[in-house]
Amino acid sequence: MKILNIGSLNIDYVYTVDHIVKEGETIASMQLESFCGGKGLNQSIALSRAGTKVYHMGIVGEDGEMLLEACKNDGIDTRYLKQIEGKSGHAIIQVDKDAQNSILLYAGSNRMFTKEYIDEVLENFQEGDMLLLQNEINLVDYIVEVAYKKGLIIVLNPSPYNEYLESVDMSKISIFLVNEVEAAQIAGAEDPKDVLTLMKEKYPEAKVILTLGDKGSIYQYKDQVVSQDAIKVKVVDTTAAGDTFTGYFLAGLLANKPVEQILQESAKAAAMAVSRKGAAVSIPYRRDIEN
Ligand code: RIB
Repeated sequence: MKILNIGSLNIDYVYTVDHIVKEGETIASMQLESFCGGKGLNQSIALSRAGTKVYHMGIVGEDGEMLLEACKNDGIDTRYLKQIEGKSGHAIIQVDKDAQNSILLYAGSNRMFTKEYIDEVLENFQEGDMLLLQNEINLVDYIVEVAYKKGLIIVLNPSPYNEYLESVDMSKISIFLVNEVEAAQIAGAEDPKDVLTLMKEKYPEAKVILTLGDKGSIYQYKDQVVSQDAIKVKVVDTTAAGDTFTGYFLAGLLANKPVEQILQESAKAAAMAVSRKGAAVSIPYRRDIEN
């Protein structure tokens, strides 16, 4: 079984600030650093560092050399990546003294997908292969339709949740990886128990992994429910924690590990990611979490 991730690649500009800038306010930042990021790239890196071979389909702009290099350095299969004219996607991230963040996205080349490009790449994947999607690229609805017809196992991390997802047929998703906010939008409830009940009613064949930040995570598939506590660490920057969890979770699933073990490894990996600054750079290797 192959795994293809069709997702964003961003240059993250991370500003260290005292507090997140408020409406109408001007503040000085203490430091500016740039990192490779984007939910797509982060999740491919997490998959790869967890030990899984992953194909990444995505688009970078003229300034995207560092993103292409990051993929190659991490052993991601880049044959379906494209570089086009114009700017890559980027994110302006503020991280405050309490490790809270805020993210402003510019989609750039991440929203330049065409149906032809999607058809061409999906030609190389067959029934039973896994497809991972987030929501930082265009045509997610189209990708889901084509992939479903081909019999791919579709995994959706509906992040960031916005109006573009309303045209996606969620009944075609096999695995949802959602945080509290995204789950509330999809299920229409806030309490985790209600969310899981409603998700089971709406999508009875789907696996749901609900991540709850420092309250841990819950896996639900039909009548099986498994909970995992978050691992307590000193939080430096939460950027890419969810992406790390997603990559490690899918890597464990592809390796046919028991769910309890997968959740524990994913929690460890996410804990390591939040204890370091940056997105892709903060994602641990499997050897790190095994030690
Ligand atoms: O999930 C974290 C990512 O969200 C960052 O790397 C940033 O690029 C945004 O896409």
